[in-house]
Amino acid sequence: KGAAADDYDESSFISKMQAKNRNIVVFYGSQTGTAEDFATRLSKEALRYGLRAMSCDPEECDMKELAHLADIPNSLAIFCLATYGEGDPTDNLQEFFTMLKDCDRNELDLTGVNYCVFGLGNKTYEHYNAIGQLVDKKLEELGAKRIYELGLGDDDANIEEDFNNWKEGMWPAACQQLGVSAEAQDIKYRQYQLVNHEPGSVPPEKLYKGEISRLGSLQRQRPPFDAKNPYLAAVTENRELHTGGDRSCLHLELDIGDSRIRYESGDHVAVYPVNRSELVDKLGELLQCDLDQPFSLNNVDDDSTKKHPFPCPTTYRIAFLHYLDITANPKTNLLNELSDYTDNEEHKQMLKKMGSNTEEGKALYHDWIISARRHIVAVLEDLDSVKPPPDHLCELLPRLQARYYSIASSPKLHPKSVHVCAAVVRYTTSTNRLVLGVATGEFADKPAQLPVYVRRSQFRLPYKHQTPVIMVGPGTGFAPFRGFLQEREWAKDQGKPVGKTILYTGCRNRDIDYIYSQELEAWKDKGVITNLQVAFSRDQGEKVYVQHLMRRDENSREIWEVLELGGHFYVCGDAKHMARDVMAALEEIVEKHGSKSRQEAQDYIKKLSNKGRYSADVWS
Ligand code: 2AM
Repeated sequence: KGAAADDYDESSFISKMQAKNRNIVVFYGSQTGTAEDFATRLSKEALRYGLRAMSCDPEECDMKELAHLADIPNSLAIFCLATYGEGDPTDNLQEFFTMLKDCDRNELDLTGVNYCVFGLGNKTYEHYNAIGQLVDKKLEELGAKRIYELGLGDDDANIEEDFNNWKEGMWPAACQQLGVSAEAQDIKYRQYQLVNHEPGSVPPEKLYKGEISRLGSLQRQRPPFDAKNPYLAAVTENRELHTGGDRSCLHLELDIGDSRIRYESGDHVAVYPVNRSELVDKLGELLQCDLDQPFSLNNVDDDSTKKHPFPCPTTYRIAFLHYLDITANPKTNLLNELSDYTDNEEHKQMLKKMGSNTEEGKALYHDWIISARRHIVAVLEDLDSVKPPPDHLCELLPRLQARYYSIASSPKLHPKSVHVCAAVVRYTTSTNRLVLGVATGEFADKPAQLPVYVRRSQFRLPYKHQTPVIMVGPGTGFAPFRGFLQEREWAKDQGKPVGKTILYTGCRNRDIDYIYSQELEAWKDKGVITNLQVAFSRDQGEKVYVQHLMRRDENSREIWEVLELGGHFYVCGDAKHMARDVMAALEEIVEKHGSKSRQEAQDYIKKLSNKGRYSADVWS
């Protein structure tokens, strides 16, 4: 290494760019890794235009330096920013976002800085791409020059496609701004280099076996437990909640007695799942690879803060079981890269087509991958001439993510356990393959223990027990309300006055999937639930949903009264249809009983939300 290249301040991305001769910096606000992956891909792709880029975690940079980017000739900052939860920045963007939000041009003058933003969001949620939009706007206000329009990716549709469309226009704009030719060379780059370890050269205790961070952390458990250091909780209860039918919904209890983990009703428990071993075996066969071969993947760019794509050294078996998502729909760039690994012209063209950004390619991708729900194993089975090196596949597959569940218990009653209520995902695809949810399929196999941690949420009961509450949660959307109800029962048992507690829940049939029915009826008899409304959607000719029950005369009047008395409104469950329809019903109720226009009703609910009196815990 030359002395000059090493001579820079680690926390200064500007001096790093200067020392390393880079003119593009790609920042990412990433929670699950997609934005980070997009950032990495952009910085690799820059090479195709003869540009030199580096991707950076804003959390590790002094972002005030952004103004100095103007000192580097022909430079550009690209931002890949995910919007998270209720319109929030990702954890690693928090600090930068807070700084940016409140500063003006006197504090940070970005004149001469070139930038563009790609936002990652989900249309199902209310604050669609809020962070990307805010940052894009704010940077311009501070004097920076937007060299290409804001890109908006929708994870509910096909975010990969949105990203590809965006960068197809972004690169020519960037090239023009930076004064280089927009003629792309077709070069492919590997981000990681494979090191095979001789059998026996790495002692077994030095190989990662599914740990998220510290080697041996699952074998020798040490608090505090968090996302990087999950607690192996014993599953002390695992029972079916449905009383018939062929669907399954499970009630699990996880023992956190010795962990020092604390939680509140409304929090989420995250579970790290493991892929099915049969599927991993099949993948090993298709790749013709020795799954027990120890290996490492090392970043070719030794300046990157990310040394490996997942903990290394490990074996292919562990990587496919614990670290990589092998059941998601493969992304188009993965399919594109796979096309290099076959001599079968038909297979090659098919992969290239699906990986291309053409209308025909998108349609084929949609049919063959999305609709047919093919995962990587199915792709390699059906295009059996395609034989990628296992290490390259490991580089391209996304990381397996923890799954979040709304906790279905209260620490007041259950300080030493966390309850989970989960619908088992299980169906057969058009190509006759059984799809099992990665985590819920594992739950159905009755695991003895699961690696977990608790994630705090904003979904909270009001501070005072007297404050009335309205809870709307059909299906497993009932989960957090079970915690709330346990909490209110506990308060009542202590002799405390408890306000109105109204629950709207629902299921298909009273005799089949009315989960926790006995508990609910008992709470109703005891007066813990003051108004229990259950929508049995399929017990009669016409569908009846929670929002239909909310609209009924007496109910809607009660909802309005409770809101006017300072009550809290909660909705939990399906984001796409249910939460929207419930919101529409609520607007109608406020409109009608408050004698307001629709706009006024919407403003009224917005105000509730700002005051923390309207909360949603929804998922898609
Ligand atoms: P369905 O399956 O009969 O359509 C839990 O999943 C319950 O929520 C089921 O009874 C389901 O009814 C119902 N549900 C489905 N779509 C809904 C919507 N848009 N609003 C409210 N409830 C809905």
